[in-house]
Amino acid sequence: MDLMEAIKGRRSIRKYKPDPVPEEVLQKVMEAVRWSPSWANTQCWEVILVRDPNIKAELANTLTTTNPARSSMIEAPLVVVVCGKKGVSGFKKGEAATVKGDWLMFDTGLAMQSLCLAAYGQGLGTVVVGLFDHKKAEEILGVPQNAEVVAMTPLGYAASEGTAPKRKEFSDFVFYEKYLGNK
Ligand SMILES: Cc1cc2nc3c(=O)[nH]c(=O)nc-3n(C[C@H](O)[C@H](O)[C@H](O)COP(=O)(O)O)c2cc1C
Repeated sequence: MDLMEAIKGRRSIRKYKPDPVPEEVLQKVMEAVRWSPSWANTQCWEVILVRDPNIKAELANTLTTTNPARSSMIEAPLVVVVCGKKGVSGFKKGEAATVKGDWLMFDTGLAMQSLCLAAYGQGLGTVVVGLFDHKKAEEILGVPQNAEVVAMTPLGYAASEGTAPKRKEFSDFVFYEKYLGNK
């Protein structure tokens, strides 16, 4: 698949078929996470693959009832939880190297994008889920203090395609030479 076609064609999928994801396809998606860029190649991401229907249901309950991705967490055969090890990305000898502190959110975000694009390339649907009770999810999954849950996505075959929400025009976010947005 052409790269631009993948970037533009990937949609958030919120309706899933129950069909399982073959192991070799799942491996390809994880391979995309593995080859994502990261701060000094620190690779702070950690991924939990959840197939157990009871755990998926518990995770779905960490989303509010108004979150449109809630039912997809149960429908999809698999939920991928992207975690990050704290104090690794953006650190040099234990000290934050920039004013941004921990770059965990950035690196796990890159990993998640790789995951979503690779999944799309394999004919699978995803939807990044960020609005949920992270602390509850960490308890359910037994995530230790030195790591955190960042985002999740259901992974499976789409039962219905998403429609593309409108994007900003270039002129709204591309500036030449200096910042020209609203101050
Ligand atoms: C960091 C992040 C968090 C998101 N959280 C949610 C969420 O909690 N629930 C949901 O239904 N969609 C969520 N989305 C999906 C966005 O709504 C979606 O990507 C956006 O509307 C653009 O649509 P598209 O993915 O089809 O291009 C999230 C996306 C990102 C990147």
